[in-house]
Amino acid sequence: KETVVSGIRPTGKLHLGNYFGAVKNFVKMQYDYNCYFFIADLHSLTTHPTPGDLHGYVKHVLVEYLACGINPEETTIYVQSDVPEVAELYLYLNMNAYLGELERSASFKDKIRSQSDNVNAGLLTYPTLMAADILIHKATKVPVGKDQEQHLEMTRTFGNRFNRLYNTDLFPESFAFNYSENLVKVPGLDGKGKMSKSSGEGSCIYLADSPEVIRKKVSRAVTDGGPTAENQPKPEAIQNLFDLMKIVSPADTMAHFDALYNKCEIRYGDFKKQLAEDMIIFNSPIREKIEELSKDTSYLRQVAKHGALKARESAQKTIKEARELIGFKSF
Ligand code: TYM
Repeated sequence: KETVVSGIRPTGKLHLGNYFGAVKNFVKMQYDYNCYFFIADLHSLTTHPTPGDLHGYVKHVLVEYLACGINPEETTIYVQSDVPEVAELYLYLNMNAYLGELERSASFKDKIRSQSDNVNAGLLTYPTLMAADILIHKATKVPVGKDQEQHLEMTRTFGNRFNRLYNTDLFPESFAFNYSENLVKVPGLDGKGKMSKSSGEGSCIYLADSPEVIRKKVSRAVTDGGPTAENQPKPEAIQNLFDLMKIVSPADTMAHFDALYNKCEIRYGDFKKQLAEDMIIFNSPIREKIEELSKDTSYLRQVAKHGALKARESAQKTIKEARELIGFKSF
């Protein structure tokens, strides 16, 4: 079986972008691959969370993984900081990751802009930590959304560079994966760009959102004055809402509104109502499980403990090999 690794940063609750870009694939892949799904708490330190927030969000992501249907009997679910071998491999990889290439990473450039008061070294070396996550288990497939594609490219660069330097084939190449042909980018409700925590609460639909909250957010989504001629291309804000409908609604629902749009007969109020109701139908079973699992701390502890043991077993094997290749040998 091929090995799969992916993770999510515990910076908040999971939204539809996280689900359709990543978690939906995790759930499907768990039966076909040797899977490691983790909570990237080391990565989230770049934003300096308070200890209380960090712990709360780690728990939240764990609960949400389980609520979405990731089965801890089939996969290894773990918290990144429970596996110190990841940090060790990160250190080794940093020794041959170059300043120029790290500075050129699109996510680093973004962060310089959005987090300009805290451009720490962890932000710069974010891609080497991510490479360590993937290479530590020698994964070949990484289910992620479109925004992570460049990080996967860098992971291949770092893995190949290590292999060349130490004349080994320790690390295989890994590729971003989605069951559909293309990687997914789920838009937000703000009329521009992808759904993301940083674009504001109102732009995200969280898996834990109640029906009332979903109705309110969707009703406030950005639209325009409506089409002015038949068969016009849709402006970004409208296309985004159609893209969201495409992922949560039955195909004929979307076709119905698309036809109305093309005939200039669409009423955005009805369109948004339908979109909200279909989002509610989609997320209700997950939300109920989130509520149920949140109370079961002893089960969560057991899952995290069991996952950490399994993940460490795999990580220790790789670290042992890496250490020997580097020349760290006992006398
Ligand atoms: P993060 O925490 O930002 O996002 C987690 C996952 O959700 C996907 N995603 C989206 N997909 C489609 N549309 C969107 N609007 C959207 N928003 C988020 C992301 O692509 C990602 O798959 N660097 C990673 C975490 C990470 C990781 C790893 C992933 C750390 N180490 C090793 C894979 C392998 C991140 O920040 O994702």
